[in-house]
Amino acid sequence: MINIEIISGTDRSNSNALRVSRYLQKQYAELDTDPGIIDLQDFPIDEVAGGPYGDDIDAVESFVAPLLKADGLVIVCPEYNGGYPGILKLFIDYLPFPESLSKKPVCFVGEANGAFGALRAVEQLQQVVGYRNAHVFPERVFISRVHKNFDEEEGIRDAFQQQLLESQIKNFVQYIRDLAPSKMLES
Ligand SMILES: Cc1cc2nc3c(=O)[nH]c(=O)nc-3n(C[C@H](O)[C@H](O)[C@H](O)COP(=O)(O)O)c2cc1C
Repeated sequence: MINIEIISGTDRSNSNALRVSRYLQKQYAELDTDPGIIDLQDFPIDEVAGGPYGDDIDAVESFVAPLLKADGLVIVCPEYNGGYPGILKLFIDYLPFPESLSKKPVCFVGEANGAFGALRAVEQLQQVVGYRNAHVFPERVFISRVHKNFDEEEGIRDAFQQQLLESQIKNFVQYIRDLAPSKMLES
């Protein structure tokens, strides 16, 4: 079975990123995949005070372990000050290099209060995961005005955006299968 990890891209409590991630988890589960959530609220930030890059840190290793095993990643990314949240960059900077993202299919859902649904943040993030040799899935979804435009049970209230999201979910699963021939046998 395809294993997908959904990264809720902020450590802000009660975030829309987590609400969107939970919605996506249910949708992916319906497509015969095994979706988990990596919630950056739980990133062991105290363990990385002082910048121990390159050290073996047990708490960090267990936190990133599900990502290493995943066949594909969905990053739910809010926009903070015209970019993606700092905790998300910190998380990426503590991923083992180069195996974490290399050749890993990665899909993006942006969400923000603003009119552009974190377009800027997602495009910046695409540069970073592209640098780390991920396979960037080209169908991106941007949830604008997320506070009033998203419902955790029903999805996006705007019908066109919801259609894009449903297409993204279905096609991302196929994209993972196409890139991993062993998974195609299971389809
Ligand atoms: C530190 C911070 C900076 C923000 N900057 C922006 C921004 O640049 N553009 C925007 O549209 N919304 C911005 N917002 C609002 C977020 O888009 C809003 O909180 C939204 O719910 C997504 O974030 P969440 O997943 O933390 O809920 C910002 C919010 C925070 C906490």
